Amino acid sequence: MHKDIAQILVNEQEIKDICVSMGNQITKDYQNKNLILVGLLKGCVPFISDLSRNIDLKFDMAYMSVASYHGGIASSGDVKIKMDLDISIKGRDVLIVEDIVDTANTIVTIMELFKHRGANTVKIATLLDKPEGRLKPYQPEYVGRVIPKAFVVGYGLDYDEYYRNLPYVGILKPEVYNTK
Ligand code: PRP
Repeated sequence: MHKDIAQILVNEQEIKDICVSMGNQITKDYQNKNLILVGLLKGCVPFISDLSRNIDLKFDMAYMSVASYHGGIASSGDVKIKMDLDISIKGRDVLIVEDIVDTANTIVTIMELFKHRGANTVKIATLLDKPEGRLKPYQPEYVGRVIPKAFVVGYGLDYDEYYRNLPYVGILKPEVYNTK
């Protein structure tokens, strides 16, 4: 385990199991739909990679870059689009892939945007859900693991852009962000 991690919350095997079961469920639910996976960069990268390989359907993938944390440990509530989609989602069944839903500021903003752009359906698949962090009411359709209100990193999630490469999700030691 990395020296800056206090505790592993979701280990590698658990992540694999989540990807298999969520992928199977999405495969069943999106039969005869016009599925497109939309990954919200950068945190989604490991999860969309593993999840997509467990979805047995014909679908395409697109990416958007949005940010709300700006390097700190708390959401600013200010969602910025840094890079937009390169294709139309009009009439598509959009499944947004996220690493975590916390305040839900990001996901609620992007869902409203996608509906405005004419998506047929917009749903969320998230590896982690932190319901205690909510500032807006929102329940994601596909949730890998509900987690407590702790600052987590790894498997795509960062602190100050580091730790995204960890193969598990862990709680960051408070002294790492308290001494900055
Ligand atoms: C993180 C995460 C989600 C969002 C969730 O992204 O990837 O997109 O915050 O938080 P919320 O529910 O409070 O809005 P971040 O803005 O840190 O960008 P990143 O994916 O590039 O790390």
